[in-house]
Amino acid sequence: MNQDELKKAVGVKSVDYIKSDTVVGLGTGSTVYYMIEELGKRYQSGEIKNIVAVTTSSRSEKQAQSLGIPTKDLNDVDHIDLTIDGADQIDKNYQGIKGGGAAHLLEKMVAINSTKNIWIVDQSKMADTLGSFPLPLEVIPFGCQKTFEDLQKENLKPEFRLDENGKCVLTHNKNYVIDLKVGTIEHPHLLADWLDHQVGIVAHGLFLDIVNTIIVGFEDGPKVID
Ligand code: 5RP
Repeated sequence: MNQDELKKAVGVKSVDYIKSDTVVGLGTGSTVYYMIEELGKRYQSGEIKNIVAVTTSSRSEKQAQSLGIPTKDLNDVDHIDLTIDGADQIDKNYQGIKGGGAAHLLEKMVAINSTKNIWIVDQSKMADTLGSFPLPLEVIPFGCQKTFEDLQKENLKPEFRLDENGKCVLTHNKNYVIDLKVGTIEHPHLLADWLDHQVGIVAHGLFLDIVNTIIVGFEDGPKVID
């Protein structure tokens, strides 16, 4: 199986966890795409009924709506039963890096408001330690050069994320993304705590102590880690 087939297998499998009459958080990314596609099929066939989705990006919102899945804003639901999302890297303690698709602020807000969180990944995302995947930050444009210099002083090896025209990538909220190319993150909680206290940083991609279940795509089929 190629990587795309592994993503599809975990995306399809994860829909088994979505029950009728629930509020579902829909993450963002190429793996989540397959999950939403499968959810659309089971919703249209009536196998899954009466759900409402809270989405984490306009991409996921458009896809869900195109399949007839009703969506609501996070402000308009009193809870989310289950969120299914992808991840960029997961370490041996099941801590994660997200934000490769620059959606980590909305993803984190939806995740922390969810009773249960499932991540769906292909096997290449599993690692001993975090950090070989660059850690994304969402930063406000005002004073971003100062924010960047503070990160440099901490030796966090920041780089602005640029689009194909050399312009700063913009998030949903029109903020910039800085990726930290640190190599290895020995102490994710300490780094998360430091980043949480930097005023110009709106959100970082360390998702710690958030996930309940991980579905990993291997050659011989998806494996569930609870
Ligand atoms: C977007 C994310 C995605 O969940 C993450 O990048 C994984 O994406 P993919 O399934 O395409 O590999 O965090 O901000």
